This record gives sequence, structure tokens and C-alpha cells, in this order.
Amino acid sequence: MTGTNYKMKGCPASIAFLADTHDTAPGPILSSLRSRSPALIVHTGDFLHGWKQRSDVNIEECHNALQLLRSCAELALTLVSIGNHESYLSGTEIEIIRSTGVTLLNNSYVTLEIKGRKTIIGGLSSGYYTAFQQGEISASESYSEIKRRHKTPAPEIGWLRDFAGAEGYHILLMHHPEYIPYVPSSVELILSGHAHGGQWRFYDLRTKQWRGVYAPDQGLLPKLTGGIVGGRQIISRGLSNPAFVPRLNNDTEIVYIDGC
Ligand SMILES: [Fe+2]
Repeated sequence: MTGTNYKMKGCPASIAFLADTHDTAPGPILSSLRSRSPALIVHTGDFLHGWKQRSDVNIEECHNALQLLRSCAELALTLVSIGNHESYLSGTEIEIIRSTGVTLLNNSYVTLEIKGRKTIIGGLSSGYYTAFQQGEISASESYSEIKRRHKTPAPEIGWLRDFAGAEGYHILLMHHPEYIPYVPSSVELILSGHAHGGQWRFYDLRTKQWRGVYAPDQGLLPKLTGGIVGGRQIISRGLSNPAFVPRLNNDTEIVYIDGC
């Protein structure tokens, strides 16, 4: 695991940005957080692990995920949003997540006062969660069956206009990086994961940049897998490897963001 540091213009607080922990053991992440003492901790989803049928996900068995959230909430104000691995959460399970002390942003936002500046932080839930809640996908469908019918299910974006119009500095936790076309231009900072860095990374001599080979919902040679994109979106390579193939040239990372 590496620590990646970014300076973002206007960002009002030191932020630790976690992504795609997938119920991994929290020790190294917590050691890093304790050494940095960020003002805010955010997690853009996939803190649980278990994509397939509903019966595969038992939140009470995701001890690492709950421990991570509980410990983060003890260290700093912690805000989390919903990734595709949280798609099948029930209302009771959402309350269990909230009981760890984190603020769960489920297609919603909060307004904070940080160093005298209004900071608006929103969480755009995975479209898989939205589709399941609306009965468009069923818990018994496999990922490939869902993909055949839906490609990537669209997120619920009705609330984004209010969020983006609120006065202050806007930070959007958005698990899926490929949702960027939905985000209003007034949102200053967008944090995403899900792509796992593209699993295998290589240096593209043509563009002179590192890029990934495959990412879920983007397919082969995805464009959005890591780093700063478009000046306002930071994509984390994630903090675990839930895939059946190893990562290559692709360290897991914890991202630290400061203002400048
Ligand atoms: Fe994901």
C-alpha cells in the first residue's frame, strides 16, 4: 500500500480518501491514518465484499469492514457512500453501518463548516443499489445477467442539482468514475474508485501516461482508472484486490488530499 498525496485548489480540509477496501483487514490503513491525522476521512464505497446473490452478503460477517468504519469514525469525521458491493443492503443493514459512527451519504449531502468555510459533501450511490431498490434487478441475478440487461444501471441524479447549487465548496463521493458526465460543472472535487487501477497497469508510450487494462463497467483499456482526471476528479486505485488475478504495476493506495 502506498500513500498518494494531492494538492487541490480551494480544498478546505486535509482529507484521507479510502476506496474499495472490500472487507480487507484494516490494520495497515488505520496505521497510515493515525500517522497523518486528517480532518476528514471519506470512503467512496465497496467497503463490504460480496457481489452476487443477497445471501452472499451478511453484513454481520463483514467484521473487517465494520471495524474499519468504527475506527475511522473514532479518528475523524468520516463520510461514506454506497458502491456496487453495497447494492443489496436492507434498511436494517444501513442502520448497522450508521451505528459505527460514520455518516452514510445515500444520494444525499451534508453541509459542514470547516475553517469558517461552507463545505458541501454528497454521496452518489451506485446505480446497482438504485436499480435493486427500485426492483429493476433482483438479488438472484448474477452480475453477467444484470450486465446483459442493463450495461451499467444509471444512478439517481435528481438530488445533484440541489447539491451543486448549494453555496460552498462541493465534494462528491462517487464510486463509479464513469458517472462523471452526470456531475454538474460547479462541483469542485469528485472522488471515485471502483476501477481498481485497471488491475494491470502499463506505461502508454503514445500518451506518456500509466493506464489500466480492464475495469468493471468500463471494460478493456478503460480511460478512468487512477490519478487526477479533468482537473477535478481524483480516482483511487483502491485498497484491496478482490479479483482472482493479481494486480500488476498497481500498488494499492490510500489518497491524501490537501488544499492549496
Ligand atoms: Fe465497485
